[in-house]
Formats: sequence, structure tokens, C-alpha cells
Amino acid sequence: MKVLYVASEALPFAASGGLADVAGSLPQALKRRKVDCRVVMPLYTNKIRDEMRAKMKFITSIMVPVSWRRQYCGIFEAKAGGVTYYLLDNEYYFKRDALYGHYDDGERFAFFSRAVLEILPHIDFKPDIINCNDWQSALVPVYYSTLYGSKEGYTGIKTVFTIHNIQYQGKYGNEILGDLFGLGEECASLLQFGDCLNLMKGGIECANKVTTVSNTYAGEILDPWFSHGLDPILKERSYKLSGILNGIDTKNYDPEKDADIFYNYSAKEPADKAKNKAALQELFGLPVNADTPVMGIVTRLVAHKGLDLIKRVMWEILSSTDMQLVVLGSGDWEYEAFFKELAAAFPEKVGLRIGFIPDMARKIYAGSDLFLMPSKSEPCGLSQMVALRYGSIPIVRETGGLKDTITDSGDGKGNGFTFKSYDAYDMLDAIRRALAAYADKEYWNKLVVRALKCDNSWGKSAKEYIKLYEELV
Ligand code: GLC
Repeated sequence: MKVLYVASEALPFAASGGLADVAGSLPQALKRRKVDCRVVMPLYTNKIRDEMRAKMKFITSIMVPVSWRRQYCGIFEAKAGGVTYYLLDNEYYFKRDALYGHYDDGERFAFFSRAVLEILPHIDFKPDIINCNDWQSALVPVYYSTLYGSKEGYTGIKTVFTIHNIQYQGKYGNEILGDLFGLGEECASLLQFGDCLNLMKGGIECANKVTTVSNTYAGEILDPWFSHGLDPILKERSYKLSGILNGIDTKNYDPEKDADIFYNYSAKEPADKAKNKAALQELFGLPVNADTPVMGIVTRLVAHKGLDLIKRVMWEILSSTDMQLVVLGSGDWEYEAFFKELAAAFPEKVGLRIGFIPDMARKIYAGSDLFLMPSKSEPCGLSQMVALRYGSIPIVRETGGLKDTITDSGDGKGNGFTFKSYDAYDMLDAIRRALAAYADKEYWNKLVVRALKCDNSWGKSAKEYIKLYEELV
């Protein structure tokens, strides 16, 4: 089976969020199971390190239609983890400081989506399945079903559209349907939703299957509370919707081998986790104390991560409890300001770094006892799985992938602490239960070992993707 995995970001080349982790590891897991999976993504000239650039092989260049325009597209090939990546070059579109957030994102990703189909005859790879991800490649199934499906060399391909976060839909004015997307009025109904064009809606309408990144989220997005408006469309199309939980790259995230943490350890020999904790406390200028629980937060500082709950009660917790908080993240000004104030008010208890610093994130996973992730919505969430892998016990809200990966340890079997409603005092209750459990050393050590033993590798999920692909071909 041949699969072309289309992503607007993928590790190790360029990343801004969880999609890059998935596009950097699921293809390898598919490959291990004999699927010829290759990835195609934009070549972000400013983001890709020189030594990686040097290893890329130029295949050819073509001209890609963007409506009536013809735009240059260089096709480069690179290998990572045994997987072939095609990187599509056009500096006008992709030589930018940020991956997204530009005034012409609609045009940039229309170009990319069109290019994905245009390159097929030039890379000598005819996929059975094209798996697209999020709004940036949602036009691929639209173009396939309207312009390419019956063309010579293109027949018989099936498309899958995966939603990583329904909040970001790619909405643009109706007036660019013809002039930029190159589609006639007869296609308008595929993309139109509300008073604009909605790329995610188009992907849902045209793909043969729609997946999302956890089972619980697949159910949640049928509900207006989660769907950001798309629930009527998803309900109509629910026959082709399913959830497949993400995994994590357990080779990359491995406390036994990780070179970015202070001391290596494992489920068999967990003792050195304590040394990581002391080193973390020191790194953040906090009193080094083995008995004080350290809670980690590593996140984009945006509302859906549940930061309003933290804002509501963290002051209270820190004033009344012997604990330390280590925070790494960047994002909305409101939350950055909140954490800065908190760190200033509790210099002995709060360590803060504003930024997206992967090696520091790992030090926090390894050095913390608890990991707080109270998301309002969380399609899958990778951090809670990484936290488990490093034996930091997650405290999460029961939503999306958090619900599917973390179970409350109240019964002596689970791997974390959970709460249901989006309510600061329910979160507080879960935190208090976690802190009480922490005080019971015997109980806690067993819990940490259970966490370290959790298997969230890609194996099971890759099998589910293969099953879905097989159903289609
Ligand atoms: C998005 C989601 C996150 C998910 C990731 C990978 O970033 O917000 O929950 O884990 O995609 O699928």
C-alpha cells in the first residue's frame, strides 16, 4: 500500500505544534508495517537548518496553477527516520518568519494543495491513499474530487482528511473562490459555510474518510460546545468520521537515552528521576528540596489549554501549599502577564521561562512530579503522554485525548488525576488529591512506575490507520 501523507509541518524540518510530531513519527510507524508512506510539506526556507538543507536532493521544478497564475514549485527530496519527505519550494510563499498567520495564507496553502497533486507524475509515486491534515491541506480532497479524480494518471486514489484541531478552519472571503482557488461557481457549495469559504468544511465534504486524533474528540466535535460551528456538517457526514488516537515517538522521548535531560532513568531503575528534580529546581532558581512536589506546565499559552482555570486558583494553591511550579510556554499576552506576576509574587515557588524551548521542556518532564494540563478542549494532546513517559503524573481534564489516555488513580490502577467539568474548583480538588497522594511515598513510587510503564507508542494507532486505508482501497 502506498500512502502520501500531506502536512503543513513535520519534524525534523519545521514545527509549530503537535501536527509536526505526528507527521514526523506516524509515517515511520506505517513504514515499519510495510506501508510505503511518504510525506509532502512546504519547504520553509527560513526554518530548515542549513545542514538539513544541504542533504536535500533537488528532483525537478514544475509550474503549478494558482487559478489563472502559474507559480514555480521546486521539488526536493530528503530522508528522515527512513521515510522519504518531499519538500515543495517557492520562496515567495514559504520564505517567511512564521509558518502561518500571513495575510495570504489562503493563497499559500491553495498553492501547496494544488502542488501536492501536480507533483505526482514527477516523483514517480502514485499513492493509493492521500492523507491530508488540517485546513492547510484541506483543499487537496477538494481539488481531487473536482479537478483531478478523472484525469489520466490520477484515477482511483482515495483521500483521508484528519482534523487535529477544529478551531482552526481556514476561513476566507467568497470572492477568492475563482481568482485564487481556481474553482467555478458550481463548486461553491463544497466550500461555502456561513458567510465565507471554509477550507476545513471542504475537506470534510470531499474526503472519502474523515478522522480526528482521539475517539472522544470524534464524538465531542458533533457538539456545538466543541465544534466551532462545524457540528451540522460533521453530523451529516458522521458516517465517514472516526477517531484514531495519536501515539508518541517513544524512541525520541526516552528517559533512558534522552541526552537533553540531566540524568537518565527508566521504569526498572527510576531512582535518578530524583536527581533530575534537584537539577531542575536549581536551573529555575528554586530551593532544592526533594520533598516539595514540583508541578510542571509546558504549553502554548492559549485559552483552550485551560489557562483560565489556572488563573483562577493558582494564587490560592501557592499561598496555602508547599509546592513548586515550573512553567514553560509562550503565547497570548494575557497569560504571559499572569505567569510573570505569579513568578514575581512567589519567587521561591514559581520558575518561569517564556518561549518554545524543546530541550528545556524535556528537563521539565524529567524533573517534575506532576504535570498539569486542564485543557478546555484537547483533540489528542501529546504532552500528557510525554509526561507519563518521563514519570511525571498528569493532572488533566477529562476531554478529548486526555480522557482517552489518562485514568484517575483513585482506584490504585490509573496513571493520573482527572476532573470532569471545566471548573477551577474541580481542578483544585484534583490537584489536592494529587498532592495528598504525593505525600504517601509508597503509593506515589508505585504510581510513577505505572506511569513509566504506560505504552503510548505508535504501534496500535498505526494498525488502525492501516485498517482504515485498507477499507478504502
Ligand atoms: C493539535 C491538537 C493536539 C494534538 C495535535 C496532534 O495540536 O491541539 O491536541 O495532540 O494536534 O494531533
